[in-house]
Amino acid sequence: MGKDVIIACDFSSAEATFSFLDKFTEEKPFVKIGMELYYAEGPSIVKEIKKRGHKIFLDLKLHDIPNTVKKAMSVLSSLDVDMTNLHAAGTVEMMKAAVEGLTKEDGTRPILIAVTQLTSTSEERMQKELLINASINDTIVKYAENAKAAGLDGVVCSPLEAGMVKDACGMEFMTVTPGVRFADGDVGDQVRVTTPERAKEIGSDYIVVGRPVTQAEDPVAAYRRCVKEFVG
Ligand code: C5P
Repeated sequence: MGKDVIIACDFSSAEATFSFLDKFTEEKPFVKIGMELYYAEGPSIVKEIKKRGHKIFLDLKLHDIPNTVKKAMSVLSSLDVDMTNLHAAGTVEMMKAAVEGLTKEDGTRPILIAVTQLTSTSEERMQKELLINASINDTIVKYAENAKAAGLDGVVCSPLEAGMVKDACGMEFMTVTPGVRFADGDVGDQVRVTTPERAKEIGSDYIVVGRPVTQAEDPVAAYRRCVKEFVG
């Protein structure tokens, strides 16, 4: 399993995305396309970035009835993305259906990971509004175990949760972790953050880095710094 840095391309248009990616003349970073860019530009943005030689994590967080998710995943698989995701809250049955939909005729498929509890959900809200009478950590671990049981490859989680997910699900179960900041950088609206170096020590397999790279004065240098700290 290769450790890598994924750049969150949180732009609202293809134009802004390409003017950012054009700065990378020597390397082809793994990029994350989220809802904003995908809904603005449609599947063509995925095809165009892929054509430029980048790996793509399509972060659309699917959550619907199993049959709908299966069919949607089949479409995403034909876009030739490298990684995609869904909400573990959709149940093991939905996650199994997603794996089926994503799997191509030759038996291969993109990496599929699950969102457990969003990092924006506090334990208090989860208990009071969602009526989940467990701790947030127990919920995250249970959802990760469900994802593993359904045949998924890993979960998206905070780097600070990666250790407990690995303890419960094994070292081979991937953790993809946003919330990464340089030790001397701006935290912005992220609360629980870690440096690329620390994320590596904790056991993240992929870090997702947005603004520390996209808003940097020199994005290529910032990306290289992430890779150096995280991959070595
Ligand atoms: O700019 P920044 O590094 O904070 O970007 C992090 C990226 O990871 C954003 O695209 C954000 O939506 C995403 N993300 C996150 N926390 C989660 C799940 C996804 O920050 N729990």
